[in-house]
Amino acid sequence: MKAALVTAFDTPPTPTEIAAPVAAEGQVVLDVVAAGLHPRVRSQADGSHYTSTGALPLVPGIDGVGRDAEGTLRYFILDDDDQGSFAERVAVDARRTVPLPDGTDPVVAAAAMNPAMSSWVALRRRITFEAGQQVLVLGATGSAGRMAVQVAKRLGAGRVVAAGRNPQSLAALPALGADETVSLVGDPDEVAGRLAAAAADVDVVVDYVWGATTAAAMVALVTARADRGKPLTWVEVGSVGGREATIPSAALRAARLAIVGSGQGSVTTRGIVGELGALADELGRGTFTVDAQPVPLDDVTAAWATGSDRRVVIVP
Ligand SMILES: NC(=O)c1ccc[n+]([C@@H]2O[C@H](COP(=O)([O-])OP(=O)(O)OC[C@H]3O[C@@H](n4cnc5c(N)ncnc54)[C@H](OP(=O)(O)O)[C@@H]3O)[C@@H](O)[C@H]2O)c1
Repeated sequence: MKAALVTAFDTPPTPTEIAAPVAAEGQVVLDVVAAGLHPRVRSQADGSHYTSTGALPLVPGIDGVGRDAEGTLRYFILDDDDQGSFAERVAVDARRTVPLPDGTDPVVAAAAMNPAMSSWVALRRRITFEAGQQVLVLGATGSAGRMAVQVAKRLGAGRVVAAGRNPQSLAALPALGADETVSLVGDPDEVAGRLAAAAADVDVVVDYVWGATTAAAMVALVTARADRGKPLTWVEVGSVGGREATIPSAALRAARLAIVGSGQGSVTTRGIVGELGALADELGRGTFTVDAQPVPLDDVTAAWATGSDRRVVIVP
């Protein structure tokens, strides 16, 4: 079968003929219909993800939509980091698959499930989120951030503030449910002032940025809160702005701030898989606006260099 193959961590994958997978006990073999090129796939393929074993060669791809022997379309999450979904077929633990509702566009599901899960799982499994609470999405202009705005609203957020860099992407967020937008571009003190004015009293921050931006935002919000005794839960989900952030100790003492992370490990596999069905149902109902760009598997090398606003989806 054809698959994308990574043979060196500094080189994009190339389409290559490899042996087809064989189902082990408890596994099903699916014909892959669509698989998203998420940031997690890029970090898998360049060896930088925290779960990387360093083993090569590998087939990238962590999830996707496949057709089973009965013809049912299923969303799946793989548990093997070497035999990924950028291939014509995958073998996957049957418990890590969910059927998609009739009529679901497989390219849309492959594009959306991973970025949508980041906030869906964070708000439903990692923290106690209540309807009516206010949410700041820090780094709202990427695929996951755009989904987070919509997910927060769908889960009953009373107010969503969306902060990000790209002005065009930011301007599109009110149509997705953002009540207010904040530009992260410009003088750091002015950015901090804007964040404090718009989001000082939020209950939850869903943070895709981390790095210096987060450190500055955290201080700005904590010091500007009307009631410092009101809980503020900061959920670290992504790190597009830096892997480390220097958090002043005073930020943790001066307000009722709790910092938690949400992702593989901090939420159990059972917990993540347990949310797939509900999210797939929302996608099937068309609850969310999703930007997807299908690309044939043969063009996977070129797709690696694509800086598209839309989530690239590899179609074998
Ligand atoms: N923990 C989880 O469960 C989970 C799941 C999915 C994704 N993630 C993580 O979430 C992050 C975003 O994923 P994604 O799918 O949304 O990626 P994406 O679609 O590639 O979007 C990334 C966005 O980050 C923005 N960005 C980059 N550097 C920035 C900075 N310094 N400050 C503010 N914004 C910046 C860019 O927006 P502009 O165009 O505005 O610059 C870009 O659109 C990644 O770190 C990913 O690994 C985590």
